[in-house]
Amino acid sequence: MRRPFIAGNWKMHLTRAEAIALAEAVAQKAENFPHVDIAVCPPFVYLEAVGRAIAGSRVALGAQNMYPESSGAFTGEISPPMLSDLGCRYVILGHSERRQWFGEKDEFINKKVHAAFKAGLRPIVCVGEQLAEREAGQTLQVIRRQFEGSLADLTAEQMQQTVIAYEPVWAIGTGKVATPHQAEEVHLELRKLIAQRYNTEISQQVVIQYGGSVKPDNAGELFSQPDIDGALVGGASLKADQFLAIIAGMKKGQPSGGR
Ligand code: PGA
Repeated sequence: MRRPFIAGNWKMHLTRAEAIALAEAVAQKAENFPHVDIAVCPPFVYLEAVGRAIAGSRVALGAQNMYPESSGAFTGEISPPMLSDLGCRYVILGHSERRQWFGEKDEFINKKVHAAFKAGLRPIVCVGEQLAEREAGQTLQVIRRQFEGSLADLTAEQMQQTVIAYEPVWAIGTGKVATPHQAEEVHLELRKLIAQRYNTEISQQVVIQYGGSVKPDNAGELFSQPDIDGALVGGASLKADQFLAIIAGMKKGQPSGGR
């Protein structure tokens, strides 16, 4: 049975001192939620300090991006082995902000996914449609294309280890959250795609997070959906009390899943 997983994407926010204080506050309370896996994803430059702040706690460390080569002349880039070396267990890949502002395409994201596994990192792979695509009725088509492209050529074991984050672009940082029904429809489609390519058993094991304006007051309803296994949280992960309240929204025995 899959375990709920809630991760904080801190994006390009916080000072070093603020990052450490936030990490400590989350780590301190994480014990209260033994049924939820928790991760924080600070900017690269704070990874080491945050790693120290959460050491020995139930909170895992994740990065927000990486370059797919192990080393070489790639000025300004960070490699997968560097992230493993700092104690990262997860890396967010293909976030819509990377796709939108840095021109990342599915093929490049797929290279990164394979590079992450090579370095022993679990990828959190983001997919999601733009507002115009939803309004044109193309949501599931976009999701299928991103799934096929970003997650190409994974072994069944790698698929099981992959976390997928469904993040409708129109819901990110806008305060406009997808309805539980809208999110569930896409999560179910993702599970169908996994089942088609692998089998039902594997589709039932993959953790699929929802992301996009998740807050303490909407988390519980989202988590009550059978195929929503947690959240990738942006803005609300920058305040310990809000992030912890979202985690508290995941009840024991959820996700109900297992259809
Ligand atoms: P948000 O961001 O929670 O601030 O909408 C989510 C994300 O981009 O991962």
